[in-house]
Amino acid sequence: MMPNAAAPATEGSDRSVPLHVAIIMDGNGRWAAARGLPRAEGHRRGVDALRRVVRAAHELGVLYLTIFSFSSENWSRPATEIGDLFGLLRRFIRNDLATLHSDGVRVRVIGEREGLEPDICTLLNEAEELTKANTKLNLVVAFNYGSRQEIAGAAQRLAREVAEGKRDPASIDADTLGRYLDAPDIPDPDLIIRTSGELRLSNFLMWQAAYSELVFVPIHWPDFDKAALESAIAEYARRERRFGGLAAKTGS
Ligand code: IPE
Ligand code: IPE
Ligand code: MG
Repeated sequence: MMPNAAAPATEGSDRSVPLHVAIIMDGNGRWAAARGLPRAEGHRRGVDALRRVVRAAHELGVLYLTIFSFSSENWSRPATEIGDLFGLLRRFIRNDLATLHSDGVRVRVIGEREGLEPDICTLLNEAEELTKANTKLNLVVAFNYGSRQEIAGAAQRLAREVAEGKRDPASIDADTLGRYLDAPDIPDPDLIIRTSGELRLSNFLMWQAAYSELVFVPIHWPDFDKAALESAIAEYARRERRFGGLAAKTGS
């Protein structure tokens, strides 16, 4: 069973623990290469890290955890590696869904479903359906996800409403567009962590990241653990978020 969260998750309050942490789980391949192992072994160990981090996030009082597990651009990898990654997603959902559910985790999936194999879509739907009433931790899986694709999809839906005469173009502002993204009810990430030392977003949550704090850690994803998450959260707590305003001590 998952222990109770260390801190109550209160939306909107001034928290040193981020309400929403999003993670670019990177470096599986390099972790494996450094050990003379096949890349698939790095991905497999990456799933172990994911299990640890889901538990740790909840223990630390995080309410939303978004994980980047397959990008729209990852289709450019060799077919065997894509097969390995899809196989791991299948196994993760089949093996871990019952535990996630009994631990009160709500699973959500963002990204493009079209083009995915039907059994994967079924598994993703089942995970969302089974866990939809859970409230302890929201695990948002970004699968076949790309931020530009997500924003283009929102623009397309809005354009359709305009073409059908259901919407005045002048009514479209940033809030409107935000409501047409994949999971509009989920608050923007407070903290985005990328492992493996790469310093980029790689098409992850670019709209939602407008005021996220970014923390880049040099370790590869399979080595990421609760201590690493705590240290990223400690770094977050030292940051001063201003959202375009003035520093709290300077005045308001
Ligand atoms: C992250 O590890 C997993 C996915 C992108 C699916 P990588 O596979 O990108 O590992 P590196 O970056 O090649 O080391
Ligand atoms: C980002 O990592 C995608 C995921 C972690 C799923 P990549 O390894 O695909 O990103 P790039 O290619 O190094 O930018
Ligand atoms: Mg990578």
